[in-house]
Amino acid sequence: MKKVITYGSFDLFHFGHQRLLERAKKLGDYLIVGITSDDYDRVRGKINVAQSLGERIASVKATGLADMIIIEEYDGQKIDDIKKYNVDVFTIGSDWKGKFDYLGNYCKVVYLDRTEGISSSKIRSEKRSTKLGLVGDSYSFFEKFIKESKHVNGLDITSIYPEKSETTDDLVLKLKLNAYKSYDEMLKNVDAVYVKSDYNKRVNYIKKALKNGKNVLCESPICLNVEKCRELFKLAENNNCVLMEAIRTAYTTAYKRLTLLAEIGKLGKVLSIEATCTNMRRNDPNRLASLYEWGPNALLPVFQILGTNYKSKTFITHNVSGEVKGDAFTKVNFLYEHATASITVAEGAKSEGDLVISGTKAYIYVPAPWWKTEYFELRYEDPAYNRRYFYQLDGEGIRYELVEFLQAVKDGKDVPRIEHDTTMAMCKIMEDFKANKDVVKI
Ligand code: CTP
Repeated sequence: MKKVITYGSFDLFHFGHQRLLERAKKLGDYLIVGITSDDYDRVRGKINVAQSLGERIASVKATGLADMIIIEEYDGQKIDDIKKYNVDVFTIGSDWKGKFDYLGNYCKVVYLDRTEGISSSKIRSEKRSTKLGLVGDSYSFFEKFIKESKHVNGLDITSIYPEKSETTDDLVLKLKLNAYKSYDEMLKNVDAVYVKSDYNKRVNYIKKALKNGKNVLCESPICLNVEKCRELFKLAENNNCVLMEAIRTAYTTAYKRLTLLAEIGKLGKVLSIEATCTNMRRNDPNRLASLYEWGPNALLPVFQILGTNYKSKTFITHNVSGEVKGDAFTKVNFLYEHATASITVAEGAKSEGDLVISGTKAYIYVPAPWWKTEYFELRYEDPAYNRRYFYQLDGEGIRYELVEFLQAVKDGKDVPRIEHDTTMAMCKIMEDFKANKDVVKI
């Protein structure tokens, strides 16, 4: 019996896939189809795959052409599979010509002509693009953001509303976007906005966008008052819009996986979380905002793992004397019924930016900078049980955040990676700090 093997993502199964499988089948008597796992697609940079592995398997199965379906999970697996299943012919489309010649050491390699004019990427991007407008003056960040958005199918960053009136046109020109002098005018020409403005102005930008039926991705904290935050979510719901908080860490694989390990009890009972975020590179060294700038990020694991129902909290904060305004260093200590947590954030002090989640059986250690990590460890008393976890992170998580935002916009509902309760608890922290409640100055 002549065995043939082929591989692919087979996302949004199309005629090109069908033809490829038909011809592959004819090369032998038994066809094995390897379908890429969701994780493997991410690792190889395919972040836009629209269907889940289960859906993609179902479409290949439905053709009736595959005698066996396997999952492709790692680089080099093709060699293992060919040996394991005694494969005679490896085949793939001609877009891969030359790339798999090395498999010729194990079996015959056949490149089949690719069907012209169709691909999964094309189908994905033909769906009407979501037009996004930027709000704010963080031009160097916007440059990075625009670059990252090129990895996301179906998103078109078209416009910008620069906040400062004194903004030099050169900076805006560099971004090659339509620059609007009026926010209302920009709203008429976009489907969604990304707000990275001054903290105090975010609420108004969000409100206006939502009232006009536009979706919002906003830097955190989205506002500095818990009641206003609640109103914003209500407004989003009433207008069938998405309001999503842009804490990139929440959308990275490493962070998502470590919270799952805590949830399934790998650490035993979680008793303590310590998160530190510091970064002294500021645009304006005379205005520090350690808690506003870093608080949401550092609070994320605390509220997502221990919940938002803490019994008490204390801020310990330090303002450097002299010209500099704002908090240079702030620590927030939380007391829960059966746990404790502490976040340390600083724009005017330096520390080790790591994350430690301690439990009754083990702890998780995420090295600095933990908020954009690709790696963490699960550590036990007996090091023989320790586990190391690696997950690739491209573009600091911006592209994953955008993919999830677009998915929520497309589905017409937000299934928040950051629960609304968590966001509101963050706003409450900002509100109390601003009002000097539970604050000790050092
Ligand atoms: N294929 C083909 N003709 C096409 C598209 C794909 O013959 N028009 C083949 C590929 O060469 C590969 C298999 O179908 O052997 C699975 O390809 P896959 O990468 O899943 O499909 P694409 O449409 O190329 O996906 P994408 O646009 O996401 O790269």
